[in-house]
Amino acid sequence: MDQKSTPYLDAVARYIKENPVRFHYPGHKGILFPLDLTELPQTDNLFSPTGPLLDAQRLTALAFGSDTSYFLVNGSTQGIQSAFISIFRPGDKVLVSYYSHRSVIEGFILSGAEPVFIEERIDRWGIPQNIRLEDVEGKIGEDIKGIVLTNPNYFGLVPEMKEIVDYAHSKGSVVIVDEAHGVHLHFNKKMPISGLDADADVVVQSMHKMGISLTQGALIHIKGDRIDREALEESVKLLSTTSPSTSILVSMDLARRDLFLNGKRRLDRLIPIIDELRREIEKIGFPVYKRPGMDRTKLTLYSIDGNRVSLDLWEKFKIQPEMSSETYCLFIISLLDSRSTVNTLLNALKDIPVYPPGKADIPPRYTLVQSPRSAFLSPKDKIPVEDSAGRVSGEIITKYPPGLPLLIPGALITLEIKEYLKSLGKTYVSVTLD
Ligand SMILES: Cc1ncc(COP(=O)(O)O)c(C=O)c1O
Repeated sequence: MDQKSTPYLDAVARYIKENPVRFHYPGHKGILFPLDLTELPQTDNLFSPTGPLLDAQRLTALAFGSDTSYFLVNGSTQGIQSAFISIFRPGDKVLVSYYSHRSVIEGFILSGAEPVFIEERIDRWGIPQNIRLEDVEGKIGEDIKGIVLTNPNYFGLVPEMKEIVDYAHSKGSVVIVDEAHGVHLHFNKKMPISGLDADADVVVQSMHKMGISLTQGALIHIKGDRIDREALEESVKLLSTTSPSTSILVSMDLARRDLFLNGKRRLDRLIPIIDELRREIEKIGFPVYKRPGMDRTKLTLYSIDGNRVSLDLWEKFKIQPEMSSETYCLFIISLLDSRSTVNTLLNALKDIPVYPPGKADIPPRYTLVQSPRSAFLSPKDKIPVEDSAGRVSGEIITKYPPGLPLLIPGALITLEIKEYLKSLGKTYVSVTLD
């Protein structure tokens, strides 16, 4: 078996080819969605794989350079939460970016671990900056059990990955990498380093973001011997449906094959196209966001009114960016993009005014006065935002775009945060009763 093979897809295809009379779930019986099966002896079982799914996961581990890889059908969210509950215990301190995705906060709620925030800078356009070694040095000590890094963030900015992983390991901390936006990184040396290549202990990736799997397809990888494999596997199961979608799993098998066989070549072809696109866009007058070593597949035009640009692109050209704000507009260029698709974008931008930016809407920062888990589990009340200053949040509130955290359970609602929530039109907020 080599990376050209797709053992799981083949098993599902063989079953369908038999044209079986199906007296099993799902109720659509394959009439509506032929690829969608339940787990069958012929197609293996995700919780205890012994056949094609085991082979598909082993090929994935080999392709990515991990020791063990598992398929996830509930996105990177499931992987991050699973990592937390298997690795951390109540009260463990975990160093984490302030601007982490909500799944990381959910990891704290589920595990009872307590965040120690790296208060990374956010620039005046509302873009969180990368984490440097100096941001974590001194913060990782004996009482820090682990660190969670995002690689890259939504805007393509990357932490000083290798330096931080080595430093964390030298201090006895484990490193979990949220690589939801970076499943492609390992496959081309011109890209920023992937968490696995930097020897991180657990790396979670959304195959559906930069890979070609169906939405929800994701991977969790383990490398090295700092992680209890069985505990992680149990946690992955704990947070999974017992009816994983065959369609998602098949698409994961294909996506792994595609990244391994075509990832390098596609990125080699795409990188010069992206670099040229970036230069051409700047010539029109749209500033393009650049940071050393970043993942350039994330294209952010900044210092513009991104919302108006986004609206014009849709109304005049039916082009839809990933997200926009008063100060930027973000486009995702995937491995399936080409000179032709990026030229469509370039030509459209030529016909759109460079709208001046509005004021970046940067939420005030919160501080924690209680652990996220105890605040989440404590008795709660839903009260008018107007009355919320001085109370402790019982819920996660994020602002999209780009999903920045406004409040998490255990955070103190200050006057400033209350006013900010009101400015967003929020009328009620969940607070703890304790
Ligand atoms: C940084 C980051 N981590 C994790 C996730 C969760 O990924 P998924 O949607 O695959 O659950 C996202 C989703 O947007 C994300 O942006």
